[in-house]
Amino acid sequence: MQYLFDENGRRYLDGFGGIATVCCGHCHPDVVDAIVKQSNRIQHSTVLYLNHAIADFAEALASKMPGNLKVVFFTNSGTEANELALMIARLYTGCHDIISLRNGYHGNAGATMGATAQSSWKFNVIQSGVHHALNPDPYRGVFGSDGEKYAKDVQDVIDFGTTGHVAGFISESIQGVGGIIELAPGYLPAAYGSVKKAGGLCIADEVQAGFGRMGSHFWGFETQGVVPDIVTMAKGIGNGIPLGAVVTTPEIAEVLTHRSYFNTFGGNPLCTAAGLAVLKVMEKENLQEKCTSCRVLSQKETN
Ligand SMILES: Cc1ncc(COP(=O)(O)O)c(C=O)c1O
Repeated sequence: MQYLFDENGRRYLDGFGGIATVCCGHCHPDVVDAIVKQSNRIQHSTVLYLNHAIADFAEALASKMPGNLKVVFFTNSGTEANELALMIARLYTGCHDIISLRNGYHGNAGATMGATAQSSWKFNVIQSGVHHALNPDPYRGVFGSDGEKYAKDVQDVIDFGTTGHVAGFISESIQGVGGIIELAPGYLPAAYGSVKKAGGLCIADEVQAGFGRMGSHFWGFETQGVVPDIVTMAKGIGNGIPLGAVVTTPEIAEVLTHRSYFNTFGGNPLCTAAGLAVLKVMEKENLQEKCTSCRVLSQKETN
């Protein structure tokens, strides 16, 4: 659980394993048990044999979402989740332009690397239609903690860099690889307002911030009082199991019914059984509440 052992049997207290979200991290018995039980029942691709594991987890995950965010698609990673979210936004709106933040990270495939702008992780890809807006960084940004002033740049990008119509906007709620940067207060409501006026969908990338880690809220976007059109997640969702998800509304999800969308392994029985077990452990062991205490403690130490 909280310990790791090296090749000589030396014990380490693991304060590093961020993806291992459930209490104390490694080999949680409830998660191990769920994986073993599901492996003994059936493990295969997601699409061939109908199985309850996927529906059970989708239902549990949807219950953690606000508003009408009730349709869940599973993927194998955060990159895939964001690729799917960007594709849905483009299909739904019929537009191509995406706005993302400087210093953001969203994955390492075509569309997601295009949306990524964090310089240490940025590779040069064809990124037609991607615009990187001013980062609302309350520590180093020109407008300090005034989120609305940074959001004006999103409106400028729409006004001066597009036809006035966009497919969507994607951002983390706390930038992970960008240095644990919380977005300046008031940023998301103002930025979402501009994007919605331009017909775009707002995508919240919760790959690093989600799953109770904020303490005060289960999802990072909730700290800014917004409800996105699409939420993506991965990493902590499976406590180390390769799993990601995209959650959206039934109306938006409908765009994927026009052709046959599938993902061979995304949401396979073993991974979704593990995901459900992780979510149950988070609730059983009050992990969100414990994160609140940790944040209060670390803020006191910082002060
Ligand atoms: C915010 C964010 N989005 C997306 C990703 C991509 O996830 P994955 O590495 O599972 O493809 C990452 C990975 O670090 C991330 O931090």
